[in-house]
Amino acid sequence: MPANSMEELVSLCKRRGFIFPSSDIYGGLQGLYDYGPLGVELKNNLKAAWWRSMVYDRDDVEGLDASILTKPTTLQYSGHEATFTDPMVDCRNCKGRFRADHLEAAKCPNCGSGDLTEPRDFNLMFKTAVGPVDDGSSFAYLRPETAQAIFTNFKNVLDATSRRLPFGIAQIGKAFRNEITPRNFIFRVREFEQMELEFFVRPGEDDAWHERWVELRLEWWEQQGVPRDRIELYHVPQDELAHYSKATVDLMYHFPHGVEELEGIANRTDFDLGAHSKGQADLGITSNVPDNRDSNARLAVQDLEAKKWFVPFVIEPSAGVDRGFLAVLNEAYQEQDLGDGKSRTVLSLPSHLAPIKAAVLPLKRNHEGIVAKAKGLKQELQRLGLGRILFEDTGNIGKGYRRHDEVGTPYCMTVDFDSLEDNSVTVRSRDTMEQSRMAMADIPAFLRENLAS
Ligand code: GLY
Repeated sequence: MPANSMEELVSLCKRRGFIFPSSDIYGGLQGLYDYGPLGVELKNNLKAAWWRSMVYDRDDVEGLDASILTKPTTLQYSGHEATFTDPMVDCRNCKGRFRADHLEAAKCPNCGSGDLTEPRDFNLMFKTAVGPVDDGSSFAYLRPETAQAIFTNFKNVLDATSRRLPFGIAQIGKAFRNEITPRNFIFRVREFEQMELEFFVRPGEDDAWHERWVELRLEWWEQQGVPRDRIELYHVPQDELAHYSKATVDLMYHFPHGVEELEGIANRTDFDLGAHSKGQADLGITSNVPDNRDSNARLAVQDLEAKKWFVPFVIEPSAGVDRGFLAVLNEAYQEQDLGDGKSRTVLSLPSHLAPIKAAVLPLKRNHEGIVAKAKGLKQELQRLGLGRILFEDTGNIGKGYRRHDEVGTPYCMTVDFDSLEDNSVTVRSRDTMEQSRMAMADIPAFLRENLAS
């Protein structure tokens, strides 16, 4: 069970090139981070695992990749312009601004003053000018959730695929929130990535699907190395629900800074499709949606038996990529005592998430024969399509093993003088630290078997 501090994870991320503060050389920009050489691999692997389980392993989900800039009308009818706010207070003494619901006492966390303003609503959406004239009349929002473009494309996807209920639309992409106080490393940031599924079902079947999706998502996190007993279910009380939700279950993970939301699974009812539909009066929408005078589409399906149109309900498992990254890293990170005063840092990632799948190390750098053989092996293994295989010509094998333990590389392969004679290499395992001799010809099959894709 990990008992890591956030400082340990932040330090590993910077040292080994997983995550850097954004605009670092200019002092950084609060709430923004850049994923480095290993971070981008781990993040891509996590997203690929989600996409495989949502889209490829199922036969009832289609994918989407919609634009980030969003027409204000969309976010007007979705309710975000009116309600996507956090309560903000100002400190009259030091002029700091804070989220009222994050204050531990009625005191400024900066200077300790009790002279705070009354909380007021602060809208979290970023706006940007569109086109050459920045006079406020032509602007777009940076989407605050990927979900809305799934709703506004509902009819496009339906027409293109002839799907029948139940079916889903999945999307991974950036979202933006102008957090009043970003904090806890990549947990609460202003630019982040979401993995969202909108799963459309018949009204009346929504509660059962909601329960099913909570189970499926717990199973998926377990496969990413985040076990069930590290996640608590939080049934969001009625007075805390988002404006579109009838019921939400949050998966609350034991992050280093506390137990907080990793993923939310909401029953959004017929709210969103209803809110974006024309001809709402004829659709029997159950939610209290705003009157729509602008949409040109009916986001509904036909009930052939009853010969009428109805708006599907939607179940939404919505996960944060960055929060997932942090949870996966936290679970994998270990300081292991090896006895005799020795220890090692190891990242025991599931192999499908490991940034580097295997490293090929020549025993002697600059030795023409050994280096050529190692490069040849790297190229051959790279062609297997298992992910990144690294050729690394540092010449210090012991240090190489330790460094690859620390970044989670499942296998290192050392090419030495004997390899030139017998075409075998030493294979060293991250988890057991055992070394064994293996014929180069057997390595592709070994990696295919041992690196779950
Ligand atoms: N789509 C749900 C959320 O962004 O919170």
